[in-house]
Amino acid sequence: MLLEVNHLQTEFQLKHGTVKAVNDISFSIEKGEILAIVGESGSGKSVTSLSVMGLVQNPGKVVGGEILFKGEDLLKKSKAEMQAIRGDQISMIFQEPMTSLNPVYRIKDQIMESIMTHMKLSKKEAWERAVHMLEVVGIPSPRERAMDYPHQMSGGMRQRVMIAMALSCRPELLIADEPTTALDVTIQAQILDLLYHMREKFNMAVLLITHDLGVVSEAADRVIVMYCGQIVEEADVRSLFANPMHPYTLGLLKSIPRLEDESDGPLYMIKGMVPNPLKMPAGCPFSDRCDRCMERCRREAPALKEIDGHKVRCFLYDSETEEAQV
Ligand SMILES: Nc1ncnc2c1ncn2[C@@H]1O[C@H](COP(=O)(O)OP(=O)(O)O)[C@@H](O)[C@H]1O
Ligand code: SF4
Ligand SMILES: [Mg+2]
Repeated sequence: MLLEVNHLQTEFQLKHGTVKAVNDISFSIEKGEILAIVGESGSGKSVTSLSVMGLVQNPGKVVGGEILFKGEDLLKKSKAEMQAIRGDQISMIFQEPMTSLNPVYRIKDQIMESIMTHMKLSKKEAWERAVHMLEVVGIPSPRERAMDYPHQMSGGMRQRVMIAMALSCRPELLIADEPTTALDVTIQAQILDLLYHMREKFNMAVLLITHDLGVVSEAADRVIVMYCGQIVEEADVRSLFANPMHPYTLGLLKSIPRLEDESDGPLYMIKGMVPNPLKMPAGCPFSDRCDRCMERCRREAPALKEIDGHKVRCFLYDSETEEAQV
């Protein structure tokens, strides 16, 4: 197993209380696998990825669990050790490449610097590698485009540059946090396709984070659905789409815009909002928004259960729930 996260807990100590942004989550990623984490904004996706990268900032703190990367607990690594792992064995790309690219340097200098920091290459070799990587991620005329400044490129091209940078050191794990959210639909599809092919080419694992369940159907092998810092459902992509179990997942699926949808009516939206993390409802965290909410859901919080390799956190699938007829 490449990455194994066990009972991870990451909290933010705020003046008015403690936010359990990541509340006891466990998952693993195999070499070369694409695992997607899906959930609305605020569900704890980014905090999960930052925890893996060792980049949670104050007042946030990982307070429990372990993050085993190739068997070694990243939470026990020093700052210097984590720095060496980041950008080398584990790389990350973000939603808006403009914030991660430095506007005052040419693309070539940024990508070469990243290569030279992590690989013992001469300047000339780093240049050749930079051009090669730009070519690999589908940037036309890479030698010329390498001379551009970030603002001279389109959003899609900038995201390709970020991917080239992230991949230039051949990471074993790429964490992509909403890598296509800022892009239009066509470019989105191209970037996802690129990630998919990079995985094939380099046998790299990808942790793909998105609020859009539509994005994962094409790219991911397995999906985790997160809600309020917890995993509410986990399955391989096929069974998640063929047999979604959690009412939240069903809501997310219904909210995906469909091309074949003829009606011009408004898109489905899950009623209500993600609860304030300092005022979580008693019982099931989804109870206030759930169409299937039962009396028991108001009192007790469901545990994550495995049914035929498909995990779900909902009393509808619990034999002790009398009200349910599933
Ligand atoms: N810097 C922060 N300070 C306080 N709380 C934070 C901070 N960052 C994240 N959180 C809390 O963690 C929750 C999860 O955040 P995040 O992981 O960014 O969500 P997502 O990426 O799924 O949209 C947020 O709803 C918020 O309550
Ligand atoms: S446990 Fe109850 S409230 Fe929670 S998702 Fe299932 S049915 Fe809905
Ligand atoms: Mg996020």
